[in-house]
Amino acid sequence: MPVTVHEKTGIFHLHNDKVSYVMMVLPNGEMGQLYYGSCIHDREDFSHLLELGHRDMAPVVFDTEGEDGRVRWGSTTFSLEHIRQEYPSYGTGDMRQPAFEILQENGSRLSHLEYCGYRTFEGKEKLPGLPATYTEDNSEAQTLVLELEDKASGARLELHYTIYQDLPVITRHAVWINKSAAGITLVLSRAMSLNLDLPDSDYDMIDLAGASLRERYVDRHALHAGVQSIGSMRGHSSHQFNPFVALARTGTDEVSGEVIGLSLVYSGNFLVQAEVDTMGVTRLMIGIHPQSFAWPLKAGESFCTPEAVLVYSDEGLGGMSRTFHKLFRNRLARGYWRDRERPIVINNWEATYMKFDEAKILEIAAEAKKLGVEMFVLDDGWFGHRDDDSTSLGDWYPDLKKLPGGIAELSEKVEALGMKFGLWIEPEMVSPESDLYRAHPEWVLGSDERHICQGRHQLELDLSKSEVTDHLYETLEKLIAGARISYIKWDMNRSISDAFSRGNDALFQETVLHRQILGVYRLYERLTESFPEILFESCASGGGRFDPGMLYYAPQAWTSDDTDAAERVKIQYGTSLVYPLSSMSNHVSAVPNHQTYRSVSMFTRGAVAAWGSFGYELDATHLTEEEQEEVKAQIGFIQRWRGYLQKGEFYRLLSPFDGNETGWMVVAPDKKSGLVLAYRDRQPVNAGYRRMKLQGLDPDLAYKVREADHKTWEWLNLENGARASERQPLAHYGDELMKIGLLLSDAACGVRTSQVTQEDAQARIFLVEAV
Ligand code: GLA
Repeated sequence: MPVTVHEKTGIFHLHNDKVSYVMMVLPNGEMGQLYYGSCIHDREDFSHLLELGHRDMAPVVFDTEGEDGRVRWGSTTFSLEHIRQEYPSYGTGDMRQPAFEILQENGSRLSHLEYCGYRTFEGKEKLPGLPATYTEDNSEAQTLVLELEDKASGARLELHYTIYQDLPVITRHAVWINKSAAGITLVLSRAMSLNLDLPDSDYDMIDLAGASLRERYVDRHALHAGVQSIGSMRGHSSHQFNPFVALARTGTDEVSGEVIGLSLVYSGNFLVQAEVDTMGVTRLMIGIHPQSFAWPLKAGESFCTPEAVLVYSDEGLGGMSRTFHKLFRNRLARGYWRDRERPIVINNWEATYMKFDEAKILEIAAEAKKLGVEMFVLDDGWFGHRDDDSTSLGDWYPDLKKLPGGIAELSEKVEALGMKFGLWIEPEMVSPESDLYRAHPEWVLGSDERHICQGRHQLELDLSKSEVTDHLYETLEKLIAGARISYIKWDMNRSISDAFSRGNDALFQETVLHRQILGVYRLYERLTESFPEILFESCASGGGRFDPGMLYYAPQAWTSDDTDAAERVKIQYGTSLVYPLSSMSNHVSAVPNHQTYRSVSMFTRGAVAAWGSFGYELDATHLTEEEQEEVKAQIGFIQRWRGYLQKGEFYRLLSPFDGNETGWMVVAPDKKSGLVLAYRDRQPVNAGYRRMKLQGLDPDLAYKVREADHKTWEWLNLENGARASERQPLAHYGDELMKIGLLLSDAACGVRTSQVTQEDAQARIFLVEAV
């Protein structure tokens, strides 16, 4: 039983064969946290784990000496300041950052949440209006709900914990209910999804930091005294930080060490914070960013926080990532495309930008079809009179100058070529220069008395208004139903700055940023429900909203607007900390690359893009004959291996943030094969011998290693790293490949010892197969 309740001792133990999470009702009625980590035996009483001690200056709740026979800690005092808690408050003795705050009508923010009951059930419930992980069968997980109340204010809190049976995963969220007398409004000015107090601070904090075009770089530093945090106040999860953090024991690497991974299933403003107090206790929390957030609760109303996902690994960062991948791929992503192999697309953005007409589009599509591409995606510039980015967002009807037969006719023509058709939209936005804005200036966020900031010449529609989301749904539903559309790229190209909703009262204003993202979710839910077989890809100026919330609606996301393979290696590596390969959309683009002006071989571009949902972002009519042959070979390779890459276990081998080389691999669930990427940024001169240790193989199986040819993508036999196409390949035991490694050095003293192209940004792909 994953949830064990010991009513007599007030102990709650969530456990499976990987993790344990132990809580108890404290002597003052609040909930305490006793243990989170690798699984331990269950027992009736864990109260001896509660550490108390006299500390100067600490506000004392009461002296425990001689009190409550249940907890046997002897003579000491009970102060919240030094107790690990489940969901701490501020103002009643704990001086650290609180998980919540309730502003009451008398101005008080004091609260005391007392345990008043619990319930358990099989499986997991849906979160109202919010994305969340799920179960397909109730036996996959069990849920515990702890009920607490603040008697003085009438606030009631439910802490929800779900533990998965076969994964080291616990999900949490909180539900607030105003149980006070009619007419009384409580204002939640802070409501975290999760708080976790850990006994010490011997951790490195790892987060994903970046910017547009270089999203999700791995950032790691030791925890130090005080508060350290990351977050977003941009109205979307952002390019700058991702709603994820890992606390890894000092020295933890990819394969060993203890890691706590924490992710928030949410796409709006978030805060992740670790506070190390003077006693070295770490308080970790995640939730909606409290800046510009306050949620009024009238009597009887409730508020549900987004879901936090807690992953435990004692197999290093790799173990943590594989758990996130499994959960997010199979129990967060949903629908028709969840388990299906994703189509190979060609997108015209970098080929034409907004300067195209039907003939040009059909020319690219026809050429791409000859190469084996399966879907054409028409990007920005097809609607209103959008010849540049200063106009027409909101006017979701085709520009008949460019496309005389509209989207309906174009999509039919593309399908007649034997390809599927996809379309770009950016529903949350409006250009000031648009029919929609002229008709409804009151539909944008911002206040009439103030100047409103623009981003990319656009304004943000106010999705807290149901008339706006209804209008968007009806417009887009008609557009999609009226054409042969198989894929939607849903973009979002500016951060929210002026979060003010016209026509709404003062209390409403601090709910706007959260309501905005709820509006996005509502629209996604309706459209994905109406078109269940359409593949949705989310996007936000590249990877500005690459988060678990989006994955619930769109099983893949455009990883970055930087399509240079040399840059993508870092972006994909960082993204893989949390997100499965199936969620990363990667395209081969033209050289010189449009973002970095770097030229990288066609093989490297394909070899890096292969690890995800694959496509092209170039003008297929501009390819040389040689490139056409290479593209055909790439496509053949992707078609053969995409299902394998989507379902296998992912291992990171060498980090681009540590040196010149990057390595990662996918191992089949039966461990009988693996596909490996070795990427080297700069061509070294007279370098030493280099080996890369593989992971995840069966140590006792003998494997033959082959390498993909850089032109034909056919497998060439290898003998311990050196090409040996004429000879019989040697087999290597898995333990040898994992402990000694695969030889990567292919040239010594400038003399070529193999046929591998010597170049900067060199990628190699290996196949390791049991013989
Ligand atoms: C964003 C996307 C790009 C492209 C452009 C179109 O930047 O990330 O892929 O769709 O918008 O304007």
